[in-house]
Amino acid sequence: MTSATPSTTPTHAVVMGGSSGIGEATAALFARGGAEVTITGRDEKKLADAAARIGGSTSTHRMDATAQEDIDAFFAATEPIDHLVVAVSGAAGSGAFADLDLAELAHGFDAKFWPQLRILQAALPHLTEHASITLITAASARAAFPGTSGLAAINGALEAMIPPLAVELAPRRINAVSPGVIDTPWWDRVPPEQRKQLFAGLAATTPVGRVGAPGEVAAAINSLATNGFITGVVLDCTGGANLPTGR
Ligand SMILES: NC(=O)c1ccc[n+]([C@@H]2O[C@H](COP(=O)([O-])OP(=O)(O)OC[C@H]3O[C@@H](n4cnc5c(N)ncnc54)[C@H](OP(=O)(O)O)[C@@H]3O)[C@@H](O)[C@H]2O)c1
Repeated sequence: MTSATPSTTPTHAVVMGGSSGIGEATAALFARGGAEVTITGRDEKKLADAAARIGGSTSTHRMDATAQEDIDAFFAATEPIDHLVVAVSGAAGSGAFADLDLAELAHGFDAKFWPQLRILQAALPHLTEHASITLITAASARAAFPGTSGLAAINGALEAMIPPLAVELAPRRINAVSPGVIDTPWWDRVPPEQRKQLFAGLAATTPVGRVGAPGEVAAAINSLATNGFITGVVLDCTGGANLPTGR
């Protein structure tokens, strides 16, 4: 039996989009496990506030994941990475297909699909030999929710890349976590009362009877990242919301 060589130095975890929501919860979990954590995002204050909440030796780096020069500058300055998590968000691209603004859908790809690929490509020379990579997709990739065909395209494209990349990038590992509806600041764009009603409606049709918490997705990410025998997997973290109902 073989295993990765034990190391006495702390692992280095980088969470892109770590100043909020799922990324912040993931960074906190890595920090609690003793990792040195670097979080990135576009807003210096959000980064500083998140680093204070996370504690430990959390470093911050301001960067816009839609800008190649920001990505390159980050990787030029970073220490070798043991765990890379890409949690940058995008919101554009939803709506009924008949009226879907394709330019808006292209913005959705620009905000989520292309940043994940650019980050991943730029990261490769900076990943340790047995590093883990975890992308965050969305349940819309494979569910039949009306009004989400554009989001299915963005997230489905990312999920389709996981198995071939797992083989191509080995012995480094790559997986994705595919969340359902998670109560994070991503939803702040919806007015509070409307959000409350939306979450209540979604909870009623979700087998576990509620929407998810960012810490639950972080735990799924952490388990994939730290289990050296899992690669090429897309793990649903949806409370069962995307299961077929038999209708
Ligand atoms: N919440 C959900 O219900 C849900 C469901 C399915 C999938 N997801 C996916 O989960 C991931 C995390 O979402 P979340 O809910 O945790 O969102 P969130 O709370 O809005 O956090 C997004 C993080 O990404 C950063 N970010 C966004 N755009 C960026 C850019 N262009 N460059 C650099 N950083 C950027 C944000 O910081 P700045 O804004 O300061 O840059 C923040 O740190 C996203 O990929 C989202 O699509 C979420």
